[in-house]
Amino acid sequence: MLLSKVFGRNRKKVDMSEWLREPGFAGTHATMGADVSQLMATVFTMLFVVGWIQAKKGKADGHHWLMLGGMVAMLAFFTSYYLFRQLGVLAFEGKEGFGGSQALYDGVFVPLLTFHIILVVIGLIMAIYMIVLGFRAQMFANGKRMLRNEMLQTTWKRIGIIFGSITVIVLGLFATRVASAGFSLGKLSVYVGLLALIGIVFGVEVTIQRIWPNGERRHRVLGRFTMAVYCILFLTGSMTYAMLYILYPGKIG
Ligand code: HEM
Repeated sequence: MLLSKVFGRNRKKVDMSEWLREPGFAGTHATMGADVSQLMATVFTMLFVVGWIQAKKGKADGHHWLMLGGMVAMLAFFTSYYLFRQLGVLAFEGKEGFGGSQALYDGVFVPLLTFHIILVVIGLIMAIYMIVLGFRAQMFANGKRMLRNEMLQTTWKRIGIIFGSITVIVLGLFATRVASAGFSLGKLSVYVGLLALIGIVFGVEVTIQRIWPNGERRHRVLGRFTMAVYCILFLTGSMTYAMLYILYPGKIG
């Protein structure tokens, strides 16, 4: 019973990853996975730009729902998508996937992809951060949603409690992984790295709070920064797609 359940699930997973490897729908050299990913990136970027325009027009409710819904859907889509694809992005398979010259690969493609991945990490952190900041910085006056024009500071005690709770959760996850799949140094470094990254984010947040203590100002400044990150993310992602699947298709895919 249990075995069939496990194998049943694995079969579905295999079907799904096979489907993602089939030729895509856009008529380029891309796989279905790459096309779906590019389509979703386009949809989410458009959603955020519309949400930004809503904020600029002072339509805070529309902004709130578009940003909140868009960010949650984006996080859900890309985490489940990459779990399926197990980060098997063509680009990580090395030079094989890229049909251009070695000089172009080393001088343009790899730097572009590296920049793109750094932005992905920053974008993921900012998505969660901006949602929390949106809720903390907003208020309702006469039923109208708006940003609170006052100091918004987190005490060290509060940061300690939040970071402590996250550490307990991450260590708990690590313990269950070790119990089910055994201990490895690689695994430990992933979890320690995750905790270190969260620690760095909290450190940066304290510094940012000092620079923009006002909640409204902070949301506007960091919101514009986040929007810039998403637009550049979309551009660099599209350039990577064009290089891999239109301009210089490789042997794979
Ligand atoms: C998650 C990503 C988010 C980003 C990138 C973002 C970005 C922004 C930006 C850039 C502005 C200022 C618009 C401008 O002057 O250029 C703004 C305003 C605002 N945001 Fe967000 N925001 C996000 C999420 C949220 C959430 C979740 C809420 C509510 C819980 C929220 C509430 C507001 C409010 C009330 C305003 C003021 C709108 C007005 O001027 O009337 N935001 N946001």
